Amino acid sequence: MDNVFVFDHPLIQHKLSIIRDENTGAKEFRELVEEVAMLMAYEVTRNLPLEEVEIKTPICTTRSKMISGKKLGIIPILRAGLGMVDGMLKLIPAAKVGHIGLYRDPVTLEPVEYYCKLPPDVSEREIILLDPMLATGGSASAAVHFLKEKGAVSIKLMCLIAAPEGIKALHDKYPDVEVYTGAIDQCLNEHAYIVPGLGDAGDRLFGTK
Ligand code: PRP
Ligand code: URA
Repeated sequence: MDNVFVFDHPLIQHKLSIIRDENTGAKEFRELVEEVAMLMAYEVTRNLPLEEVEIKTPICTTRSKMISGKKLGIIPILRAGLGMVDGMLKLIPAAKVGHIGLYRDPVTLEPVEYYCKLPPDVSEREIILLDPMLATGGSASAAVHFLKEKGAVSIKLMCLIAAPEGIKALHDKYPDVEVYTGAIDQCLNEHAYIVPGLGDAGDRLFGTK
């Protein structure tokens, strides 16, 4: 699949299996989601542009590389995307964090927006959208739509688990959005939950049901 990257790192795969396990409680679930997001951040940022700068070591002046351009924009889709923010910020503490609030209407399964606050100049930033689950793709497509309306041109989606249906739906509309995921699962069930998936990511993160 074009523009889809599956993290095959053993640490990510191992932690994802524990996250999936129904016996994993909210505390461990939260900790692992944060850890996996941090590991994924390493790979998602692999192609960030670098520039040479002059620095002075205790020994001499030298030229060395630092990340160039505007700071990254990290945008969690509320609620469940919040669980991935701290892991990202551990590696990229200077990133700006925006929020897009969406929930899936349980009957229509359509995303409903309830909050949107983005960093300034999204058009000049690399945007990394965070959401653990890409199921029908409705939420991710809506979030990408808002971001593009505000001028965003470089958007990556980072998730823990994607359904083939969600990837297709997102890429039918927005083929330029790179999807980074820990796994591509089998399918959606009749309630549009990912199979085998991990259940409801928001409920498991925040202990709600
Ligand atoms: C979940 C998940 C995604 C969405 C994925 O959120 O975190 O945002 O569903 O489904 P989709 O691809 O079919 O849109 P949910 O709507 O349950 O809200 P929550 O994060 O507040 O729990
Ligand atoms: N949202 C979730 O939290 N889990 C799914 O499997 C699908 C959508």
